[in-house]
Amino acid sequence: MSEIDSLKAQLESLQSEALESFALAASLSELQQLRVNYLGKKGALTEVLKGVGKLPPQERPVIGQHVNATKTALAAALDGCEASLAVKAKAERIEAERIDVTLPGRSSTSGALHPVQQGLDEMTAIFSQMGFAVAEGPEIENEFHNFDALNIPPEHPARAMHDTFFVKEFAEGEQSEPMLLRTHTSPVQIRAMKRFLEEGHEPPLAVVAPGRVYRCDYDVTHSPMFHQVEVFKVDRDVSMAHLKGVLKHFLSTYFEKEVSIRLRPHYFPFTEPSAEVDIGCVFCAGKGCRICKGSGWIEVLGSGMIHPNVLRSVGIDAEAFSGFAFGLGVERLVMLKKGIPDLRLFFENDVRFLRRMGS
Ligand code: PHE
Repeated sequence: MSEIDSLKAQLESLQSEALESFALAASLSELQQLRVNYLGKKGALTEVLKGVGKLPPQERPVIGQHVNATKTALAAALDGCEASLAVKAKAERIEAERIDVTLPGRSSTSGALHPVQQGLDEMTAIFSQMGFAVAEGPEIENEFHNFDALNIPPEHPARAMHDTFFVKEFAEGEQSEPMLLRTHTSPVQIRAMKRFLEEGHEPPLAVVAPGRVYRCDYDVTHSPMFHQVEVFKVDRDVSMAHLKGVLKHFLSTYFEKEVSIRLRPHYFPFTEPSAEVDIGCVFCAGKGCRICKGSGWIEVLGSGMIHPNVLRSVGIDAEAFSGFAFGLGVERLVMLKKGIPDLRLFFENDVRFLRRMGS
């Protein structure tokens, strides 16, 4: 066989072998490798071209044309295979990522505020709309704010009635003093009045103070930690009538209906006169039922006219100014509004209960 015929034969077999391997390639990267193997600088075609040099000069263009034709054919075949592989890969991907758009969506569950927090927020908002400024105080208090300044001196029996949790003494500078978990929100009266005066103001002063309080107590209607909202106002000529008006407006707004209220004489060291406040039973409209124990009335809070000693303890002129104050149990009111029978439900964190109460 002449040199040129042998080269032609080489080209032909190279082409058919190449086309076959292109067709078998399973991936784009494999094709890429084949392109390098055949058409690359050190590829099979270049190898053949090296033989061209041995031909007599007049034959070189002939074989040159053959080489070019083969090159074009292989390049075209590679392009074609690449295109069809790309189409196939796309189809496979579409198949793999197929989603059924007719399936119902997965809904996400949204959380809700705890019913007590909701109640606290609602109550605070009502008072704040009436013009009371929101204040807060620490849950770990000293005896001065929780007792002394509220007209409960050390030997006073009311201290024993408060079932106080004492905490380890806190060192404050050189001195350390007994500290306790506040048993009510009334110490915020003292703190808020002091701050108000320190800032150089004069009464009138109207404050709502929501917060957590602690007493060593645990049964259907008591928990060692519960919440109170303290409300008070100091001004000239404040009377029980103001107290009653604010209470009536608050309770009717909170319960979203007209509620009747009743003030019963009571005793608190920090108010004089003092009264416990009952509301007409919201379950039986005052007819008498299991919840109100047949009386038609439910006790919801303690109240009274701020004792002159309390005003004096912060340096307010008790001759010129007077004030009313009350403290209500948040859990109690939420239970009444939502018909919850046991206070402990609030703190057991049973999701079914919380979900039903959340909104
Ligand atoms: N601090 C009282 C209590 O916790 C409630 C109260 C507040 C009574 C303000 C009168 C005035 O029982």
